[in-house]
Amino acid sequence: MALRSLLSLAVLGLCAFLLLTQPQQALGSSRGPLGLIGGEVIAPPPGMCAIGVAIHGYQCQEFDVTTDDGYILSVQRIPQGRAGGGGNNKQPVLLQHGVLVDGMTWLLNSPDESLAFILADSGFDVWISNIRGTRFSRRHVTLDPRDSEFWNWTWDDLVTHDLSSVIDFVFKQTGQKMDYVGHSMGTLIALASFSEGRQIDKVKSAALLSPIAYLSHMTTALGDVAAKAFVGEITTLIGLPEFNPNEEHVANFLKALCAQSGVDCYDLLTALTGKNCCLNISTVQLFLKNEPQSTSTKNMVHLAQTVRDGIVSKYDYGNPLFNMEHYGKAKPPIYNLSNIPLNFPLFLSYGGRDALSDVRDVEILLDSLKLHDPNKLSVQYIKDFAHADFIMGVTAKDLVFNQIIAFFRNQQGS
Ligand SMILES: *[C@@H]1O[C@H](CO)[C@@H](O)[C@H](O)[C@H]1NC(C)=O
Ligand SMILES: *[C@@H]1O[C@H](CO)[C@@H](O)[C@H](O)[C@H]1NC(C)=O
Ligand SMILES: *[C@@H]1O[C@H](CO)[C@@H](O)[C@H](O)[C@H]1NC(C)=O
Repeated sequence: MALRSLLSLAVLGLCAFLLLTQPQQALGSSRGPLGLIGGEVIAPPPGMCAIGVAIHGYQCQEFDVTTDDGYILSVQRIPQGRAGGGGNNKQPVLLQHGVLVDGMTWLLNSPDESLAFILADSGFDVWISNIRGTRFSRRHVTLDPRDSEFWNWTWDDLVTHDLSSVIDFVFKQTGQKMDYVGHSMGTLIALASFSEGRQIDKVKSAALLSPIAYLSHMTTALGDVAAKAFVGEITTLIGLPEFNPNEEHVANFLKALCAQSGVDCYDLLTALTGKNCCLNISTVQLFLKNEPQSTSTKNMVHLAQTVRDGIVSKYDYGNPLFNMEHYGKAKPPIYNLSNIPLNFPLFLSYGGRDALSDVRDVEILLDSLKLHDPNKLSVQYIKDFAHADFIMGVTAKDLVFNQIIAFFRNQQGS
């Protein structure tokens, strides 16, 4: 069970998804320009504001954020709660999803149970990010998702481009330092960013749910198979730059992996994320309608390297010469998490049944933060929670979200 499993997350999620829901198309895989068919103007498919936020009676604004390397990311803002009001200068908070999903994951439960709505109703100015390659962020100033160059990136690029650009954007729009909430890979890219001193001046504090950085303790058979597959064979097996779980070759590859590893991929979320204690079956069904989302095959390879190597480092080009070319060193540089400023307010919440954020890996992460100012580090352990409970659990509000809000408010006072 563990972190090695972004991969396995991916693989399991995908394969489970595929087996369970067969050939269900992800909703509008790209948001093209207006098209003219038979003289009729075809509007672009509705955005996340329409399908995920407005339906619950909240205001929502949709933005495009262009990264410094040309990707056009969709960002949503829920400026106020259902009751409205609250004035200007609300505290902004940015929500960053994990790998193979998008910002919809924050919006799937009822408003009383979903973090994005709870934050809005608690007086926060809520911002939702969607990383490159996901449903609403499949655009680029020059490249097309059908170009392989569109998929030439890993989570290093999410650190240096996507997260960076979105934080800049929210900062400019609000004129304020923001709070941050990340889940899964959304914690990894924040930790990596902060360890390099990147954007930390625009962030007030961070809540990390199912934190992943170290990924070496995944013990599931599937994790092993998956990690080997991604490091070794995936590019040739799939031969596609886009890792789209809804695509036939990827689907077949994943089914083969499930079969080979002996994992019961029919039990979708369990195989994927651990034995979640507290999911609502209607929410799971909604999740399956909206996810998974594409990522790049290269990103999956990078995550697999993190599993294999047991360290958090930049993408390994696979031989010293190529690494030398990119980094001026034979080995990829590490992200030294001990370099995160010791007084930076951090809240970590992790679960005893999380197959991705394994308890032992979280302990390694905590060890790298052992010199952190104890007044600035809040750690919560929830024995029964697995990976998805932290986002979609019906008890997450009482157990986790209220604590996050209290933590953010505490930091504001200090
Ligand atoms: C992908 O990007 C790297 C730089 O990060 C570049 O060296 C390489 O040539 C690119 N590969 C392709 C296939 O475009
Ligand atoms: C599960 O979700 C449905 C649909 O949102 C809702 O009607 C029901 O009350 C939820 N059940 C629990 C236990 O939260
Ligand atoms: C990481 O940074 C800490 C403190 O800045 C330093 O003591 C440690 O040696 C570094 N670790 C590595 C592997 O560079």
